[in-house]
Amino acid sequence: MNVVPATLNYLHHLPTSARRQEIGAIHQQRQQWINQNKKGFLRYRMPYETLASFVARSVDCHGASIKIGNADEVNPEERATIYTALRSFMPWRKGPFSVFGIDIDAEWRSDRKWQRLLPLLPDLQDKIVADIGCNNGYYLFRMAPYRPRLALGLEPSMQHYYCFKALNAMARQEALHADLLGVEHLSLFPECFDVLFLMGIIYHHPSPITILRDIHNALLPGGAVLIESQAIPGEEPLALFPDGTYAKAPGIYFIPTGLCLRLWMEKAGFEQVELFCQHPMSGEEQRATDWMRFESYRDFLDPRDSSRTIEGYPAPLRVFLRGRKKAAPMPQRKGETCL
Ligand SMILES: C[S@@+](CC[C@H](N)C(=O)[O-])C[C@H]1O[C@@H](n2cnc3c(N)ncnc32)[C@H](O)[C@@H]1O
Repeated sequence: MNVVPATLNYLHHLPTSARRQEIGAIHQQRQQWINQNKKGFLRYRMPYETLASFVARSVDCHGASIKIGNADEVNPEERATIYTALRSFMPWRKGPFSVFGIDIDAEWRSDRKWQRLLPLLPDLQDKIVADIGCNNGYYLFRMAPYRPRLALGLEPSMQHYYCFKALNAMARQEALHADLLGVEHLSLFPECFDVLFLMGIIYHHPSPITILRDIHNALLPGGAVLIESQAIPGEEPLALFPDGTYAKAPGIYFIPTGLCLRLWMEKAGFEQVELFCQHPMSGEEQRATDWMRFESYRDFLDPRDSSRTIEGYPAPLRVFLRGRKKAAPMPQRKGETCL
């Protein structure tokens, strides 16, 4: 008898088209990798195990800060233990969170991005959703109140994976899961998702159209993708290909204008593509905090001209687009003919 490990129990929510055996094999291989008793793995596994012993009585994912447990649910000694374990996941890039009264002010005010998505957020109730590159799961938690059947985060970083697992072990949101997978594994999920989120990812990939096609294939007919990306200003269908870093970030390939990204999506097969929000980045929204002590947005810009990155490129905008996969044709009734 094949026993599915608890970390894979999201599989039963997926349609039969999911390539279960291959997902299971990669899953098992990655679990074996992170279960090694070496310092690099234990530094995140141990705080996860510590935090997993505290289960919150109250959880609230409706507000800007995700609230997991109230301060009065633990005693001062327990709070000190929780604080130390949470600090092990520094730098905290996405947030804010409040865990048993400990406020985690992350580098990014991720609540602002979520607010911008809301006007075009598809119905998530009872839906199968994926968030590609989910980091510590901030957006998965924000999806929870909409009652998806499954919200699955694909996140290859062990640090972020354990951080999400720790938060959800305390929050116990049953529809939320994450696995140590990346955008390159989407082909294992043909026609599986009603809604896919791809935020802060596409410019890190050498082949954006391939990603968009993979997303298109991974959506069910009629499904929707929400994409958020860095972008350069301009009305033309162009993308910047930086020589070296962009705003001090390595591993950046194509940074499109909003129009260019819309055209990529259409070329990949999406319909009804809408660019519904565009805004400049700001040092209020991405900044160093007590939970992320490295350089942040303002350090990435030319100190004499904030419209330029430190390398002299146009400073980034953020753009938001939604597209749909064509719905399946209505089944014909017996005896009907089409002209
Ligand atoms: C810029 S962050 C964006 C996080 C989040 N989606 C957001 O919008 O705030 C990029 C995330 O993608 C993850 N990542 C790295 N390689 C990836 C891959 N091959 N597939 C999916 N995600 C990846 C990183 O670990 C990180 O959490």
